[in-house]
Amino acid sequence: MSNNVFPKDFLWGGAIAANQAEGAHLEGGKGLTTVDMIPYGENRMATKLGLLESVSLDESEYYPSHQAIDFYHRYKEDIALLAQMGFKVFRTSIAWSRIFPKGDELEPNQEGIRFYRDLFLECKKYGIEPLVTLCHFDVPMHLVKEYGSWRSREMISFFERYAKTCFTEFDGLVKHWLTFNEINILLHSPFSGAGILFKEGENKEQVKYQAAHHELVASALVTRIAHDINPQNQVGCMLAGGNFYPYSCKPEDVLTAMQKDRENLFFIDVQSRGYYPSYAQKVFDDKNVIIDITDEDRKILKNTVDFISFSYYASRCASADMNDNNTSEANVVKSIKNPHLEASDWGWVIDPVGLRITMNTLYDRYQKPLFLVENGLGAVDTIDENGEINDDYRINYLKEHIKAMKDAISDGVPLMGYTPWGSIDLVAASTGEMSKRYGFIYVDRDNLGNGSLDRMPKKSFYWYKKVIATNGEDLE
Ligand code: BG6
Repeated sequence: MSNNVFPKDFLWGGAIAANQAEGAHLEGGKGLTTVDMIPYGENRMATKLGLLESVSLDESEYYPSHQAIDFYHRYKEDIALLAQMGFKVFRTSIAWSRIFPKGDELEPNQEGIRFYRDLFLECKKYGIEPLVTLCHFDVPMHLVKEYGSWRSREMISFFERYAKTCFTEFDGLVKHWLTFNEINILLHSPFSGAGILFKEGENKEQVKYQAAHHELVASALVTRIAHDINPQNQVGCMLAGGNFYPYSCKPEDVLTAMQKDRENLFFIDVQSRGYYPSYAQKVFDDKNVIIDITDEDRKILKNTVDFISFSYYASRCASADMNDNNTSEANVVKSIKNPHLEASDWGWVIDPVGLRITMNTLYDRYQKPLFLVENGLGAVDTIDENGEINDDYRINYLKEHIKAMKDAISDGVPLMGYTPWGSIDLVAASTGEMSKRYGFIYVDRDNLGNGSLDRMPKKSFYWYKKVIATNGEDLE
């Protein structure tokens, strides 16, 4: 008898997102969205961080999202490849601006609805369950320009209309939903995370936390609506996970690590428990922030999520004297370099044990089922003389992380499924590169948009197929 820890109905699959895969940025009635304004190259960071007071398209720049990997036109071929691997679940997002091109219309764009219905039907054809993120790093640009995006309370009702449309139109096709991808990234990358552009001299913390509040209310509101429309719907929050380790056992380092963790867990505390954590007021006071929270907001927040989804690429590290000189933003969230860990070519530390720690922390804290919806190694792949991609480095990374998942499950943590990131190579969110690849399937495209866009399975494709077929038992 097998003593495999993965449950029989474990959801093996992979993840992508509309903003990094679809392309066709103005086709099918779609409106411009935040990611469409983020160029590749030296102006990328300032744009992503919201440091420009306004953004507009510039002919001299290259915008990777405009064509991305052309998933919009090639999804049938792509889903067929995922099905060959035996996927049971496929995570993608809906581009808000395909459904509501401007964001504040009263009626949705039927062409957008048709596209996603066809996509989800295509998944179902192969018995693949869609796991759908409503907002993955894209906000319709019209809402950014007219309302200042999530800094404005009006966003809650626009998002409500959008979400309600999705729950109704895709009822019966989708039952696993995530509201905001990596909701905590709003604090670290405000424009790409939430469409925030700062005005000169304003208290950025005030803007970010008020925007966060609006997202939290919107998330809770649509969670209730999803349940009302179909009690079978399961709604999750989504955290950019990875615990902060104290750099040393000095109590001040331990305290800083705890506070840094809270900065991220703050969001999930609200989404999972239904109210602001007790430490929130002190955080707001320290940052000189006053949040506009109504009684009605507090009632809405009580609609908590059904499960906790999270991404895990790396752990983080903090010390009491961390500052701009001894930290890097390698994995978006500022961290001290951990001397005990190796890192990827992009400086993201590789730490499978950290996944076990993160899973235990999240389950201890929330006691809700977990779903690991992103994980993987961004690496350069080369095609060898036999025309193959032997990505053993990626296989090793994933293997060690699956082992860590097994350990966490043995520790008593319930895990619903696993969707490693970028099952098909796609545009990197941080750098806009194509050369930072995560996929089991190679896409012929370079950082400047050259290439045939042809797909080709890598060695990891066949490895993962076996992992799925044996329900995680055979990792060799
Ligand atoms: C997560 C995001 O932050 O990490 C994805 O949800 C992103 O959108 C992924 O692509 C990996 O990051 P990157 O920068 O390597 O693409």
